[in-house]
Amino acid sequence: MSAPTEAGGSIPPAEGGIEPHTLLIDRIGLLVTNDPAVGDGPLGLLRDAAVVIEGERIAWVGPAEQAPASDGRIDASGRCVMPGFVDSHTHLVFAGDRAEEFAARMRGEPYAAGGIRITVTATRAASDSLLTRNAARLAAEALAAGTTTLEVKSGYGLTVRDEERSLRVAATVAEETTFLGAHVVPPEYAGRADAYAELVAGPMLDACAPYARWADVFCEAGAFDADATRHILTAAAAKGLGTRVHANQLGPGPGVQLAVEVNAASADHCTYLSAHDFEALSGSSTVATLLPGAEFSTRSPYPDARRLLDAGVTVALASDCNPGSSYTTNLPFCIALAVREMGMTCEEAVWAATAGGAKALRRTDIGALTTGMRADLLVLDAPSYLHLAYRPGVPMISTIVRRGRTEGRRGGE
Ligand code: NIG
Ligand code: FE
Repeated sequence: MSAPTEAGGSIPPAEGGIEPHTLLIDRIGLLVTNDPAVGDGPLGLLRDAAVVIEGERIAWVGPAEQAPASDGRIDASGRCVMPGFVDSHTHLVFAGDRAEEFAARMRGEPYAAGGIRITVTATRAASDSLLTRNAARLAAEALAAGTTTLEVKSGYGLTVRDEERSLRVAATVAEETTFLGAHVVPPEYAGRADAYAELVAGPMLDACAPYARWADVFCEAGAFDADATRHILTAAAAKGLGTRVHANQLGPGPGVQLAVEVNAASADHCTYLSAHDFEALSGSSTVATLLPGAEFSTRSPYPDARRLLDAGVTVALASDCNPGSSYTTNLPFCIALAVREMGMTCEEAVWAATAGGAKALRRTDIGALTTGMRADLLVLDAPSYLHLAYRPGVPMISTIVRRGRTEGRRGGE
């Protein structure tokens, strides 16, 4: 497979397109393993390292001079190698865009989640093929920016049929899919929010569960209240789905506490948190997933990542890519925002966009580069991961390996 470059062109596969059985990446100047038992600090850093990939997995990690012989080789030429990004929160199945709404916000209009309904109208009117092409274009864009694992939600269909087909489309581009029938109450249910929640927790969930690993609810004033959120998530869990919550994005509310109550894998946004919310998250296994692209694009205050981290909460960074509140697939951009605006160190932000995303998806096979993990990695066009935040807006990835296969290479040596 060829991945598009940031410039939209096509990158040829490595070594003539024939993937070797074992692949050595050597002359790595700085390797981010994300395993403190393997290297220095929380990122488990190794210098002058090499990695051997066998099939889809990492077979060996260690000092470059001890690397075993392999069938193929990538010369990292002293650059940094790190795990691929794990984007645990996106909404890639939709039609149209809302650029005018963004422009109005930049002129001072507030963000209103009601804009979701505009995308719902466009999405319902779109063919399966258009939705699939749009989602594939965005997934390719994410991959070119280093995202090797994607989560994609439904949520712009809001009928049984449109939610089900949104999830079918999501499954063509993402390995993690999430049922978000409870995104907003659609216009045909205006004034009948309870009836819509019954539809979501009943027939819509029945139709969508086969195509989703997760269920999510937008728990917010103007969307779904605590009772409806609990009802829908409990029904989803009974069907075997994992749970996640859009929580405390636009104002204080019950979302975070509810996420912890139902042992959700993740509470996402966490922009407006009370002391109780920090406390609840810190004693839980629910990850706080922060989405700074949304605060950037809605001109909202950024979440207090520093306080979450200091309270011992596990933090993930994700893009929230959607046409309303955050139309970016670029996790390096989110890392730069988290470092510049949210008090995260470069190391915390890199961890949050890789290992943190894996934890938010309760995955143990991705997000780190140690023996046995899936071989999802990036060769940066830089000597250090610091350059992701230090050189904002600049494409920093020279080679992408996903499931052991070279997906894209940029430029020459
Ligand atoms: O995560 N908050 C709910 N959903 C999206 C926004 C969707 C939209 O505005 O279209 C979010 O930010
Ligand atoms: Fe979202």
